[in-house]
This record gives sequence, C-alpha cells and structure tokens, in this order.
Amino acid sequence: MSQPYTTFQLGSLTVNRVGYGAMQLAGPGVFGPPADRAGALAVLHAAVESGVNHIDTSDFYGPHVTNQLIREALHPYRDGLVITTKIGARRGADGAWLPASSPAELEQAVHDNLRNLGLDVLDVVNLRVMIDPMQPAEGPIGEQLAALARLQQQGLVRHIGLSNVTAAQVAEGRRMCDIVCVQNHYNLAHRADDALIGELARDGIAYVPFFPLGGFSPLQSVTLSGVAARLDASPNQAALAWLLRRSPNILLIPGTKSVTHLRENLAAGALVLPPDAAAELDRMDAGQ
Ligand SMILES: NC(=O)c1ccc[n+]([C@@H]2O[C@H](COP(=O)([O-])OP(=O)(O)OC[C@H]3O[C@@H](n4cnc5c(N)ncnc54)[C@H](OP(=O)(O)O)[C@@H]3O)[C@@H](O)[C@H]2O)c1
Repeated sequence: MSQPYTTFQLGSLTVNRVGYGAMQLAGPGVFGPPADRAGALAVLHAAVESGVNHIDTSDFYGPHVTNQLIREALHPYRDGLVITTKIGARRGADGAWLPASSPAELEQAVHDNLRNLGLDVLDVVNLRVMIDPMQPAEGPIGEQLAALARLQQQGLVRHIGLSNVTAAQVAEGRRMCDIVCVQNHYNLAHRADDALIGELARDGIAYVPFFPLGGFSPLQSVTLSGVAARLDASPNQAALAWLLRRSPNILLIPGTKSVTHLRENLAAGALVLPPDAAAELDRMDAGQ
C-alpha cells in the first residue's frame, strides 16, 4: 500500500512528496567541490531516473557547486522537474554562513542561480532568513521579500517560499505575496513547528522540513530502531515515513551523496506506518 497524498502542489507546480536535497553533494562542510564528483553526478541521475521531480538546492552550497553539478548532470531538464533554490546567504572565504540579504545581493543571487542552473526562470525561490543563521528569530523580513517579489514580477522567479522563519514572519510574508512553501528545521526529534505545519496545511502551503534525518546530527533512538525493525525497514525510512504521515503538506528532501541511501530514502515513500508504530514515534517527543 502506498502513502496517501503522493503529490502536492507548489503553486502551479506538481511535485512528488518525496524529493531530494542536493546540499550533501558539495565538499566537506558544504564547501568546495565533492570528494567524488562522478558519484555526485550519479546520485543526481539516479534521482531523476527514479522519478524524483523536486530537487532542493542553493547557489551558496559550495558555493555554486551543487547548482553546477545539477546543471552538468541534468540539463536540459526533463519536463516536470522542479528545482527549488534559496537566496539570502553567502559563504565567507573560510566557509562561514553569512547574511546576504540586501536587495542588491538578493538580485545578484537570483542571477547567479539562473546562470549556474542554466535556467531563464527559477521555479521556486526560498528567502532564507539569516537574522539568526542557526534558528528562526523574530525580525522584519518585508524589505527582503519585497525585493524578491520584484524579481518575481520581472519574470525571473515563478514561486516564492520562506526558510528559517517564525510563524509571525510567515504571516508577514503571506500578507505581502503568495508563499508556496516554508522550509524549516523539523524532524522526529525537533518539532518546534508543530502548530505552524497545521496552519499551513489548512491553507494548502507546503512545509518542507530540512534535516529530516537529523542533518549533521543523525537521528538515533532506541524507539526509532525498534519500530523500524518491526516494519522490516531502516530507522531512516521509518523517520521519513513518520514525516509523510505527520501532515499531507509535508514534502521530503532528504540529502545524500550515496545512490544506495537515495534509493532507501525514496522507498520510504511506500512505507506505511501502522497506527501503533506512528503513536510510538509520536511519543518520542516526550522523551520516550
Ligand atoms: N533551508 C535551510 O536552511 C537548509 C538547511 C539545511 C539543509 N537544507 C536542505 O535540506 C536538505 C536535507 O538536509 P540535509 O541533507 O542537511 O540533512 P538530512 O537529509 O537530515 O541528512 C543527511 C545526512 O544523512 C545521511 N543519510 C541520508 N540518507 C541516509 C540513509 N538512507 N542511510 C544513512 N544515512 C543517510 C547523509 O549521509 P550520506 O551522504 O552518507 O548518505 C547525510 O549525512 C539538504 O540537502 C538541503 O537541500 C536546507
């Protein structure tokens, strides 16, 4: 049995709920070229050949590296492939993640993404808010979003999303323009956005959890391993299946530089968690 809601609308674009996040394809610390360039290209080929039609990237991964790999592997892009990117940050010479959110920097970032991806228009651009680079923090985003909306009006951007944002910033953004997705840190062990997910689901807006498998701190839990073993699945598959079950507006973009892991993650789309298993994972948040 497959999951209900296998696709979702990102504005005018239809994507499968299980996609792929390209960040891991850059070098160590998401900086510089990949250690295994051929392997990185193979992951991208395998993703689209397996039916992935939603790839998440940014020009500040590398910088430029993941976008250039995507272009080399997949351009000209097959019909229906949706590439979501993000702007608002840049990398320091030492790999530091720095804000780059003046109107001029945002415009430059859109043009950098267009050039490096080989596109005339970007499908979805997330404004990555950097008030606190590590977590959502309150503060105005109106000036940045207005700059992105102008680039949309110029025809360079199809749809706008937000990333690393608070619920108040989402509300502020939605008063200014159509927001098709919110990309925030969320997974089995990090659930600060529970209320926001429900709010967005009611209005048909996608919620795209980054670090769905824990990112640089892989999810590890006896409960998760136990549930996965009972289902004859891996813990990562159970964690992804839990996210899919959590809300119909959740889209997955797990990241990997391994074709084996990619296939494992995509197979999670067909893993159905029985109610008792889901309830057990739900309770993990309470420290069980
Ligand atoms: N908006 C933002 O601020 C933001 C921040 C971070 C990430 N993102 C986006 O979100 C995407 C997902 O996040 P992420 O890639 O950082 O974290 P993630 O998907 O939670 O985890 C990736 C890590 O898990 C490992 N992994 C993946 N599949 C596995 C499997 N089946 N078995 C064992 N290990 C597995 C990967 O290693 P291997 O390579 O060895 O498989 C990698 O170390 C990124 O690719 C990026 O596009 C956005």
